[in-house]
Amino acid sequence: MLTSYWMCSLYIVTLAVIVLRIILRFGVKRCTSKVNMSGKVVIVTGANSGIGFYTALDLARRGARVILACRHEARGIRARDQIIAATLNSNVVYKHLDMASLYSVKKFCEDITRTEERVDVLVNNAGVYALGDRYTDDGIVETMQVNYFSVFLLTDLLLPMIKAQRGRIVNVGSLAHYIGDLKPDHINKKGYYSEMITYANSKFCIMAFTVELARRLRGSGVTVNAVHPGVVKTNITDTNRNILLDVVFWVLVWVCYRTAEEGAQSVVHCCVAEECAQTSGKFFVDCAVWRGPWKSESKIIHLNLWNISEKLLKYKQTNMKV
Ligand SMILES: NC(=O)c1ccc[n+]([C@@H]2O[C@H](COP(=O)([O-])OP(=O)(O)OC[C@H]3O[C@@H](n4cnc5c(N)ncnc54)[C@H](OP(=O)(O)O)[C@@H]3O)[C@@H](O)[C@H]2O)c1
Ligand SMILES: *[C@@H]1O[C@H](CO)[C@@H](O)[C@H](O)[C@H]1NC(C)=O
Ligand SMILES: *[C@@H]1O[C@H](CO)[C@@H](O)[C@H](O)[C@H]1NC(C)=O
Ligand SMILES: *[C@@H]1O[C@H](CO)[C@@H](O)[C@H](O)[C@H]1NC(C)=O
Repeated sequence: MLTSYWMCSLYIVTLAVIVLRIILRFGVKRCTSKVNMSGKVVIVTGANSGIGFYTALDLARRGARVILACRHEARGIRARDQIIAATLNSNVVYKHLDMASLYSVKKFCEDITRTEERVDVLVNNAGVYALGDRYTDDGIVETMQVNYFSVFLLTDLLLPMIKAQRGRIVNVGSLAHYIGDLKPDHINKKGYYSEMITYANSKFCIMAFTVELARRLRGSGVTVNAVHPGVVKTNITDTNRNILLDVVFWVLVWVCYRTAEEGAQSVVHCCVAEECAQTSGKFFVDCAVWRGPWKSESKIIHLNLWNISEKLLKYKQTNMKV
């Protein structure tokens, strides 16, 4: 009796998971825009693997000049060669950028400002997960610095060039931001690190950043949107050492499975689609504006975010003023 009860439950759960998986497969949307990006310059951070790689590949195929901003030279050059070989667009370059170093971010932006004629699109894609309770030489929790604080600095430094083209900024966020928060007293404090929560907090910050930056850029012609790429099997979980979380990922990835190329679709959509030249401060999932509730829309949080960011970065932003 008991065994048949368990067997029955097992069948139902298995069936439900399979049905869910099929439904979610149908949810994967592709960017249908045919926009030609020739003459435009696009910067993709963390472009050597996963979602960033396929975003860069797609934009190169559309004829853009694509700058692969990566922290590791050999990996960056390999990605560049693969993209050139696949697209026959030779206007793809690697430039060094380590988001875990504010010095590197500043050097990268100086280089871009000095050597590039224009910047049309900035894709803030580089991200890390489960690095452990580590601080950078700048004294910031590494996950927070790579996933959010360096984005604040990079975006501010590149904004004059993006404004000149009435360009776009695309931030790779995550649905994980729903379990994240911004607690000024805890955000960089020793002892408050948690693999899942710190990651979620970094994504919460980048989502709040998107909303507030869009407000500040109103009328400038520049749009800024955030994207949830879906649950994608990439290398981002490689650093994870928690077996329980590994199992959760494994199940999640199996149920929601999508490839990095599919995961890049909403990012590409925000870079090229006509819709995103008008839409700003929105969250995109499956190439469409997410209609669900968004917890980061309170103004106080955003004001705090600017203050906290400037304080931790020891940097006064100049281009993201109201
Ligand atoms: N995969 C998912 O299910 C999922 C879901 C929601 C959101 N996202 C977001 O999607 C974005 C891309 O992640 P992914 O899944 O494609 O993972 P990935 O394949 O690991 O790609 C992450 C990229 O960021 C780069 N990166 C890491 N630390 C860096 C640093 N300090 N400086 C410069 N670049 C750095 C990595 O370079 P290396 O190769 O040198 O490590 C890599 O190119 C991330 O922002 C992630 O949070 C992913
Ligand atoms: C993960 O890393 C390996 C080795 O560096 C690379 O060959 C592979 O393409 C990466 N996976 C993705 C999805 O980018
Ligand atoms: C984009 O347009 C240019 C000329 O404007 C053309 O030479 C090129 O072939 C086009 N590229 C794609 C991928 O359609
Ligand atoms: C942010 O900083 C400004 C100026 O330093 C200050 O006037 C304001 O009260 C701060 N806002 C919050 C919410 O802390």
